[in-house]
Amino acid sequence: MSEQPQAIYLKDYQVPAYLVERTELRFELAEEQTTVIATLQMIRNPDCNQQAPALQLHGHDSMVLQSLQLDGEPLMNYQHSDELLTIAEVPERFSLQIVTLIEPQNNTALEGLYKSDGMFCTQCEAEGFRRITFYPDRPDVMAVFRTTIVADKAKYPVLLSNGNPVERGELDDGRHFVTWDDPFKKPAYLFALVAGDLQHIEERYTTASGREVILQIFAEAKDLNKLQYAMDSLKNAMRWDEQVYGREYDLDIYMIVAVDFFNMGAMENKGLNIFNTSCVLANPETTTDAAFQRVEGVVAHEYFHNWSGNRVTCRDWFQLSLKEGFTVFRDAEFSADMNSRTVKRVEDVTLLRTAQFAEDAGPMAHPVRPESFIEISNFYTLTVYEKGAEVVRMIHTLLGPELFRKGSDLYFERHDGQAVTTDDFVQAMEDASGRDLSQFRRWYSQAGTPRLAVSDSYDEASGRYQLHVKQSCPATPEAERKLPFHIPLAIGLLDGEGNDLPLTDGQTSQVLDLTEAEQTFTFEDIPVRPVPSLLRGFSAPVKLSYPYSREQLVFLIRHDSDGFNRWDAAQTLATELMEALVADYQAGRELQIDSCLVDAFAAVLDDSSLDPAMVAKTLSLPSEAYLAERAEQADVEAIHAVREFLRLVLAKALRERFERVYRANCSDAPYSPDAESIARRSLKNLCLAYLMTLQQQNYLQLALDQYHQADNMSDAQSALVQVVHSGFDEAREQLLGDFYQRWQKETLVVNQWLSVQASNPQPDTLGRVRQLMEHPAFDIRNPNRVRALLAVFCAQNPVNFHAGDGSGYRFLAEQVIRLNELNPQIASRLLTPMTRWRKFDPQRQTLMKGALQQVMDSGELSRDVYEVVSKSLA
Ligand code: TRP
Ligand code: ZN
Repeated sequence: MSEQPQAIYLKDYQVPAYLVERTELRFELAEEQTTVIATLQMIRNPDCNQQAPALQLHGHDSMVLQSLQLDGEPLMNYQHSDELLTIAEVPERFSLQIVTLIEPQNNTALEGLYKSDGMFCTQCEAEGFRRITFYPDRPDVMAVFRTTIVADKAKYPVLLSNGNPVERGELDDGRHFVTWDDPFKKPAYLFALVAGDLQHIEERYTTASGREVILQIFAEAKDLNKLQYAMDSLKNAMRWDEQVYGREYDLDIYMIVAVDFFNMGAMENKGLNIFNTSCVLANPETTTDAAFQRVEGVVAHEYFHNWSGNRVTCRDWFQLSLKEGFTVFRDAEFSADMNSRTVKRVEDVTLLRTAQFAEDAGPMAHPVRPESFIEISNFYTLTVYEKGAEVVRMIHTLLGPELFRKGSDLYFERHDGQAVTTDDFVQAMEDASGRDLSQFRRWYSQAGTPRLAVSDSYDEASGRYQLHVKQSCPATPEAERKLPFHIPLAIGLLDGEGNDLPLTDGQTSQVLDLTEAEQTFTFEDIPVRPVPSLLRGFSAPVKLSYPYSREQLVFLIRHDSDGFNRWDAAQTLATELMEALVADYQAGRELQIDSCLVDAFAAVLDDSSLDPAMVAKTLSLPSEAYLAERAEQADVEAIHAVREFLRLVLAKALRERFERVYRANCSDAPYSPDAESIARRSLKNLCLAYLMTLQQQNYLQLALDQYHQADNMSDAQSALVQVVHSGFDEAREQLLGDFYQRWQKETLVVNQWLSVQASNPQPDTLGRVRQLMEHPAFDIRNPNRVRALLAVFCAQNPVNFHAGDGSGYRFLAEQVIRLNELNPQIASRLLTPMTRWRKFDPQRQTLMKGALQQVMDSGELSRDVYEVVSKSLA
């Protein structure tokens, strides 16, 4: 690209001038050159009122245009620039045949048709299809597809595409073909193709209405023993969507394919999901508990897209959250129902508060429905996904489950087969419920994290209690000033014994409708001054402050009937103590802590009635990233030192309890990834982590024993992390060597091995990371490797990445410049920590800006990297 990339705007949306009724594709796959013959049946769009518009098809400079025919006649009169093919005059209805030549084997961007470990596969969302053939590559152009794949039979025995297989046969030269037919109209971004030497498992599923569906999961032969968990998860997801949303699967076959080279987690292509191996393969020996849960969640997420995304899709990419926010909400509720609801909520809120809040406060901040973008791939963000899911959750909270279901039924019924907007979604919710969501719509158009400042007053004589709430929202790139949001604020009031006081209608929890910049809520007949439990279940994605005393927080940790808020009270207490300690550290004062946190943690450890997973979550201190996000100016060294100090204080004070709870949660039962077993392991490993901070030989031995005796990856990996991140140099090297020896053939386990080292807070980790880049296991073309080593170092190792000499920043700039050529999506994502440069001290700011400038000046940038760097420096 020779000119500077330009932004495109939602306000410029226009309906397509031409529609595709039918897309026929023939792929002749080969090692040197792949031929794609596309035959498109096209018509003028009756909804477009332009007079005889030109036909414009999207393309890409990696593709060679071999020939073009209009209604069977060679076409000469067209214009062809790098990214656009323009035909000035076409009839009302016509057939266009396009022959293109592509080289999937050289496609390192992993968009369009590419090769992963010798197999052909595709990734077309968002705009990858235009690297396969010229096409109106926009989600509001929907067609039925028929696809024929031709390839060498020995090398590529399995040939897959969307829909149902309708024909297969043998050709000359050892080639064969399969034809697939997809009866559902779809945008090009949902097209998929796979060709390779794959094995699969197969099961059958009977839908609620009695239709039988074949379920197949494909992988390389070596991974065939890691597919059953995904199959079970898929069946659970299918059943859940029938029960909770009344949604059934629609084709006769549902396929999932695991590939090792993949830019994201997984892709919901109609009838043929393509998954990153990390989101589908699972077995006890190689997979941690967290990874098991991710597999369950992602399998469900992609399955749920069949309705929220495929049957009803997006009108344009500004509406991305229409499918992603809703589908993340659906998968979160599914995981909550399969496992522990409170644990799932704590995990999601933790991610939102650290990473999404940081995004919302940085130069890439954007509304859930962005107004403009340079490269859409940069908008597959925490804001579109996670905050988008929170917005749907708030609608659910405001309407209640029954009206929400009425709304989703209406939405699916009204828009089945259409490409629609987030506004259509909200409209369906309004129409079905009769609730006015006009002010609520601001959640889609205004970026930034709202602040709620809450105070209260109590009049003993009248029994009147009042909550005063002020809302505000900081400026973000799209707008300086914000209008008030409609915020569902769930609350409860606790009496002196910790019991919920009855509120309106005798309920113990109530959702307040906050709509004004300042608003007071009054409660009558409150017998004693209550302790408020605010924002229960995290009912809105906001930052709430209330002047709690430490005693009140300890009281809430013990008594709040809302499990999420019990955890949150502990987080707030720990955060407050740590922020005070950071100030002490910076002022050179001696670090000392008030015993309230130790006492509260001791009580939690002693309470055997609690869910062990929640005990572990409660005793996990807020992360360094979370404290950095909250700080006006983040002092990474102080934050790290203070957190380590507090961990040590807690370990010393609670050592006997940690030992006891560790032992109590060891188990001889065979491994199972169910919520209860995961809970016990998480608590056991939390205890081990605290004990290891004491730097004692006996605890090192405990960790080594756990490592060697483990029958599952969770326990082995937890022990490995503890040993590697501690100061025991010899044990560290020994264990790392052992681990690699043992697992070198398991790609996903090797990624863990890289990550454990990249996240090490000990000195000279950067040197180690550079060494590991030379290791035969590393491959910069494989995104999972890049994430495991480079992204983990840059995003999950704050003390080392932010080293005062700027070495981490220079390293990142170097890698981004290299990846910019190979894989722009991955390059751009790797840059994320650099976009936060305003958070740091003046010296670091200078170094970070310098590194960003170095990227800017490095030559021709992809749209992806250009957008992030230019917005960061603006
Ligand atoms: N739609 C996918 C999801 O379920 C996201 C996705 C997969 C994607 N691969 C991609 C987005 C590549 C952009 C580029 O969330
Ligand atoms: Zn999705």
